[in-house]
Amino acid sequence: MQELEALRSQAEKELAAAKTIEATEAWYRDYLGRNGVVTNFLRGLGGLPREERPAAGRAGNEVKNLLEAALHTRQEAIRQREMEQALAAEGVDVTLPGRKQNLGRIHPSNQTLREISQIFGQMGFQVYDAPEVETDENNFGLLNIPEGHPARDMWDTFYTTTPGVILRTHTSPGQIHAMRAYCPEPIRVILPGKCYRHEDVSARYDMMFHQVEGLVVGHNVTFSDLKGTLVNFANQMFGEGRRLRFRKSYFPFTEPSVEVDAGCVLCGGEGCRVCKRTGWLEILGAGMVHPIVLQNGGYDPSVFSGFAFGMGPERIAMLKYGIDDIRYFFTNDIRFLERVG
Ligand code: PHE
Repeated sequence: MQELEALRSQAEKELAAAKTIEATEAWYRDYLGRNGVVTNFLRGLGGLPREERPAAGRAGNEVKNLLEAALHTRQEAIRQREMEQALAAEGVDVTLPGRKQNLGRIHPSNQTLREISQIFGQMGFQVYDAPEVETDENNFGLLNIPEGHPARDMWDTFYTTTPGVILRTHTSPGQIHAMRAYCPEPIRVILPGKCYRHEDVSARYDMMFHQVEGLVVGHNVTFSDLKGTLVNFANQMFGEGRRLRFRKSYFPFTEPSVEVDAGCVLCGGEGCRVCKRTGWLEILGAGMVHPIVLQNGGYDPSVFSGFAFGMGPERIAMLKYGIDDIRYFFTNDIRFLERVG
């Protein structure tokens, strides 16, 4: 009996020293497992004198039950402590400030496109969508730029693997789409979108850029209408008083043709690298729609006349916000994107 008592206190001491579940499992093997001390004690009862067996058996089972209960309690305590430690280590600190979400905003090119659309919208222009991937025929041929025409050099572009299919070099092929869709009704549309050119990239030119084409076709549409429309546009876009300059120019699809410059804001007209030291920045090309183009669109040039223009919204944004390099628009520098507009 004394032996059993010593065994029990030894077992209890060792269990109290077990710090992990694994340690309690080893303890279980030592005492209560198939070859454990307590198990062996109970197994050895058969060797005792008959009269001692019942008391020893009872005492032995009592110790076994006690130790099993103690093991259970110990394991619970260990699990509880482990959970508390894990919670303390991984817990969420609800007092930490949250992570700030940056708000996105509209890209400066799109913002300018929207402003342009709005101004022309007030003058009664509708927006007409035309494709960016074009046929050679629409981009050049029907705009009076036949194969071999030197004007094609000005608009070197990207060719697809399908012969005769290219990325449009300007939004002007949209004129053909719009005319064929509206003919014989009068037209007053703008056609905004992306254009591509195989060009030496510089502060003024990028190989991808936006344009907004404008097209008006009707009876008695004159050059004064073109001029009035563009001056009105510039006054609304830049504020009254921005100087505009109309220079005679040449486009195969308009006759007569002009290029329109606005006074360079970057240098105040002094001359800088963006305006090529002229004090002026070209913002658009324009002219009266060439009779051959009217005809290609389905209109009789002896009855209808029209004007067209093509402007670069990035150029316009540069002037409006004093940006000195067009490449900023497409390099995705967040500092630029957040500041403009
Ligand atoms: N398409 C011409 C360009 O890309 C601009 C233009 C449009 C000129 C319409 C006249 C009329 O340069």
